[in-house]
Amino acid sequence: MSGPTAELFADDALQQPAGREQIGEQSYVLRGYALPWIERLLPELRRVLAQSPFRQMVTPGGFIMSAALSSCGELGWTTDRTGYRYTTIDPNSQQPWPALPEALHQLAVMAAEEAGFNDFEPDACLINRYVPGAKMSLHQDKNERHYTAPVVSVSLGLPAVFLFGGHERSDKVQKVSLFHGDVVVWGGVDRLRFHGVLPIKEGVHPQMGPQRINLTFRMAG
Ligand code: SIN
Ligand code: FE2
Repeated sequence: MSGPTAELFADDALQQPAGREQIGEQSYVLRGYALPWIERLLPELRRVLAQSPFRQMVTPGGFIMSAALSSCGELGWTTDRTGYRYTTIDPNSQQPWPALPEALHQLAVMAAEEAGFNDFEPDACLINRYVPGAKMSLHQDKNERHYTAPVVSVSLGLPAVFLFGGHERSDKVQKVSLFHGDVVVWGGVDRLRFHGVLPIKEGVHPQMGPQRINLTFRMAG
């Protein structure tokens, strides 16, 4: 191919590398980005969850979250009647949160780079488990000390509809289908955009079973 058509395609490719969908000024879905990592990542995840198992947490308003949570990394995110916060200790085990495993760390750093964020050094990885029917209401990720780093979110297992809103709760939301291995990165001007997950549909994922697991990496401290 040559001439203006070739140039047009070349430009397109530069702006939108294969499998990279832009959903905001500084937000991308990296389709299937985590797939080559799955074999390394699952055993690491199992070790983390043996040390700090999933638990259902209570919001400050007294609601039980439908997603079960755990964390790894220097800081883990928790909620109870007194509020949302990061802690160095898992309140259930009274031990430090499990260390952030190497493959998880590498995957998060490379995905951030792919979305234009260099020097991402996550110190927290929140692990959410959704069984069919579980959801995550619209919220902003703002318990982190700084908002200079992006959020990197890895989807495993059953598909989900990710809601990506604006800076006001009432802003229009985009619905983005997320599948096993997809990675979403949002940061910069999009860092504080509202987001959430619609109730997960019934199903059984061939590798992960009847659940969706989401990992979100942040620089929290
Ligand atoms: C979250 O916002 O904490 C989770 C998002 C997701 O499960 O995709
Ligand atoms: Fe979030």
